[in-house]
Formats: sequence, C-alpha cells, structure tokens
Amino acid sequence: MIKTGVLVSGSGSNLQAIIDAIEAKRLDASISVVISSNPKAFALERAKKHGIPTEVILKDSFPSREDYDREVVRILKSYGVELVVLAGFMRLISKVMLEAFPMRILNIHPSLLPSFPGLEVQKKAIEHGVKFSGCTVHFVDEGLDSGPIIIQAVVPVLDDDTAESLSKRILAEEHRIYSQAIQLISEGRLEVRGRRVTVKNNKVETGAMENPKAAIFD
Ligand code: GRF
Repeated sequence: MIKTGVLVSGSGSNLQAIIDAIEAKRLDASISVVISSNPKAFALERAKKHGIPTEVILKDSFPSREDYDREVVRILKSYGVELVVLAGFMRLISKVMLEAFPMRILNIHPSLLPSFPGLEVQKKAIEHGVKFSGCTVHFVDEGLDSGPIIIQAVVPVLDDDTAESLSKRILAEEHRIYSQAIQLISEGRLEVRGRRVTVKNNKVETGAMENPKAAIFD
C-alpha cells in the first residue's frame, strides 16, 4: 500500500474523492498527511473528519519558494510519504520538492493538456470554442502543468455551458481518474519513457467520439 501526502489549498473535493476510494477499498493507498497552504481551506475539515493528520504551511513564513518547499518536504518525509498528490494546491513546485520526490509528484488539471495550462481554464476552453474538454492527471515537472501525462478523461463542451457547468462536468471525471492514477502507481503498473507514460496489462478501447453529433449522417 502506497503512502500518500495530499497538498491542498481549497475545497478539497478531489481529496474527498481519494478518501472515499480508499474507504471503499477501490484504492489501495493511505493518506499519511494533508498539507494546506491556506489555513481556511475546507479540505482541512474533510481530512480531520476522517482522522487524517493535517498541517498548514503559510507562504509568508518563508522567504523563498525553495524554503517553503524544504519545509513541505521535511513534513512529508516525517510522515513517511512515498507519493505526493497535489489536489488544488495553488503553488508552483520548486526543484527542492522535485528532487526529494523524483517522478513521485502528481497533479490534476481541469483541461486536456497541453491545451489550456494555468488558471480559469474552463472559461478559456469555452471562449476558444473547443468541442471537448476534460481533465488530466500528470507527473509534475518544473513547468506549469507540463509533466508527462498519465490519464485523461474527456467531456463534451455544450452550447449553453458556462465556466461553472463545464467545471462541474469535468470535476466529476477528476474525482474518478485521480484515484485510478494513484492505484496504477500503487500497483507499479506505470512505465515512463521520456514524456510517454504507458500502463502495463491495459485494456485497449479505440472508439471515436464526436461533438456535435453529425445528425445528417445518422
Ligand atoms: C480542481 O479543478 C483541480 O483540477 C485543480 O484545482 C481544483 C481543485 O478542486 N487543480 P478541489 O479543491 O479538489 O475541489
């Protein structure tokens, strides 16, 4: 069973989904500690409710990103964390953390990367007029939302979508695939070659999707 540490800054719905998957025995992992950059994050309440230790590390207490990360690493190591799971953690990760956990830091992002890295990406997807969006679980590297991709889930963008309605549709998929990615790591089933991450003994599906449906050909 892999020991995770989950880093949060906000609502923590992804944290909740991971907790639920562990409790339902769909995910063979444990959460040793939840670390928040925000003392008011609702994620902290969620963790406490399930008896998970929490720590708050305030940005302003550290002169640099590296110093901040050194403290995060110290705490993660003190809890014996093997895999770091970023779940709405609103800070960029420095070399200090990357070197302490090489290819052992995951992030989830609410777009089909490499499209729309950064913030407010559901709004950007709608404004751009894409017909599909979704979410991506990836390894973290030094860039912004740029590390090797592990899993993506796709959702349609509907004509009357708002950033809110699209976010909701994407979030439901985030809650599903984040636990799946952690489970694959826990089972040692991922192979990473450069940017390409493959899953050993994987089922293959080759169906295509279209949106809008080309009704004239039905
Ligand atoms: C999610 O949309 C995630 O993709 C992004 O931040 C949001 C976190 O939501 N990185 P929550 O705190 O897990 O509810």
